[in-house]
Amino acid sequence: MIQFEPENDRAQLEHALAFAKQQVRSLIERHPDFYPMYTKEGRWKHEGPVWTHWCDGFLPGMMWIFRRHSEDGSAEEQYWHEQAVRYTKPLEPRKDDREVHDLGFIFLSTYYRWCQLTRDPALNEVIVQAGKTLALRFREKGQYLRSFVAENSLFIDILMNVGIIFYAARETGDRKLRDIALRHCFTTRRVLVRGDGSTAHEGLFDLETGEFLKQTTHQGFRGDSCWSRGLAWALYGFGTSYEYSRDPRFLASAEACADYYITHANSDGVPPWDFNAPAESRKLLDTSAAAIAASGLLRLSRLLHDPVKGHFYWGAGMRILHSLCEKHLADKNANWDGILKGGVYHLPKNLGVDESVMWGEYFFVEALDHALH
Ligand code: GLY
Repeated sequence: MIQFEPENDRAQLEHALAFAKQQVRSLIERHPDFYPMYTKEGRWKHEGPVWTHWCDGFLPGMMWIFRRHSEDGSAEEQYWHEQAVRYTKPLEPRKDDREVHDLGFIFLSTYYRWCQLTRDPALNEVIVQAGKTLALRFREKGQYLRSFVAENSLFIDILMNVGIIFYAARETGDRKLRDIALRHCFTTRRVLVRGDGSTAHEGLFDLETGEFLKQTTHQGFRGDSCWSRGLAWALYGFGTSYEYSRDPRFLASAEACADYYITHANSDGVPPWDFNAPAESRKLLDTSAAAIAASGLLRLSRLLHDPVKGHFYWGAGMRILHSLCEKHLADKNANWDGILKGGVYHLPKNLGVDESVMWGEYFFVEALDHALH
């Protein structure tokens, strides 16, 4: 259970943001135009496998946030703008990428932020196209957007991407797109969220009938366990689904997942990699799940109608963020390329275990952005 007292040490958060800028600047200088995913012994540059290509938006996404946190008209603002554009533009062809279910991750962190700044219709068109491409993954039999691994597979992670379909539906007025997004969220809620607010990583379906068969996992401990990053994706993703649809059932699911997180995370708010792994294994934390949860809780707190609960979620998000700054920032280790230590990518495949991971960096910086605004 997270223990928290109201705290807001702004200087600590500002230090973390300054350190994040420094680490990203040094990555740009040492390895120009390289989009890393996870570190190996603290180093971004290595030949380790990636499993799937879902992370390229997170590095430029941070640059857009850094631009926001630079003085208007300053050389620093110009630097981050130029770098953000330079690293965002090469992603454009991915708007037609049918191999991944991650187009929300790639475009909402980049083109969406760029478009918010300029309102350029050509940028908007890229986001809309990415939303349309993602919607092509929808399976009528089963009512879900299929994951990258197989036709019969639904991932909890896709909830973080469905926002781009809601966005495309809103921009184009296409009711079919909105309907696909809604139906995917309802199926996810029905088959991957449990009565106690915990979540499963993956659901499998019968391709002939569309019948839901079972909960399973790739990155978690087992099918009936709660992989902490999946839970963090859910609490954040249902919040986004509510923001677009205003359907109170999605808000209820976001709250159920948030409450499970708050009651099961360690007292400082940083969770084990899987809440139901054996005790010894639970000593391995996942700071990236904590960063996503922190950002998701800070966002969710602003969506709630009940100010007491909103205040509670804000406090929980801030507690997690301060714990990450205090205990997991890499600022004491000169040989570490990343910002946040202690992330876990794929434990069963032994990829990026107890390392910096690019989505952990991004959602940590995004949480700092919420907290400092
Ligand atoms: N594949 C998304 C994740 O590792 O959370």
